[in-house]
Amino acid sequence: MKQSKYACFAVALSGVAAASAIAQDTRPVTSFEPSELQAEAMANPGVAFESGEKIYKTICAACHMPDGEGAVGGGTYPALSGNEKLEYPDYAIFIITNGYKAMPSFGHLLDDDQVAALVNYLQSGLGENTYEPTADAETVALVRPLEEKNEGEE
Ligand code: HEC
Repeated sequence: MKQSKYACFAVALSGVAAASAIAQDTRPVTSFEPSELQAEAMANPGVAFESGEKIYKTICAACHMPDGEGAVGGGTYPALSGNEKLEYPDYAIFIITNGYKAMPSFGHLLDDDQVAALVNYLQSGLGENTYEPTADAETVALVRPLEEKNEGEE
């Protein structure tokens, strides 16, 4: 599973940090306060990124902002909150799995269920969006770039 790499990475990283902190720190042990995401990843390695909201907050919010308001700075990051193109799922699925101009492709990072969960979150949940969440894994599989679908079949 692709997402487990990330969860394991987070767990390994915090493990190393904790171990070296214990080895070097002679002060009394104080509590380590993981962020919500870190806590989730540590408690459930491999399932931490199954919710669309978590995927969004982890990999999309950096450019599109936590509430999908978008940003203009080093580039122009379109607002996803209040974005009419999200009324139907196919457009977002296409962009996420194929990339588009300055938007990188995340097709290799996310499996069909994850893309569907993510797009459902974009449709209903992110910012002011209240569209009906209509993305499903079957649609994602259809929209994925051809070379990805053919991977491993030759
Ligand atoms: C590195 C910055 C970056 C990240 C990370 C990123 N995007 Fe984008 N995204 C962009 C840019 C830039 C565009 C505009 C592309 C263009 O039109 O040139 C865009 C466009 C889009 C669009 C089309 C919006 C429209 O109005 O046409 C959607 C939908 C979208 N991104 C969703 C996502 C999702 C979901 C994620 C997380 C998986 C994500 N993006 C992660 C930079 C990013």
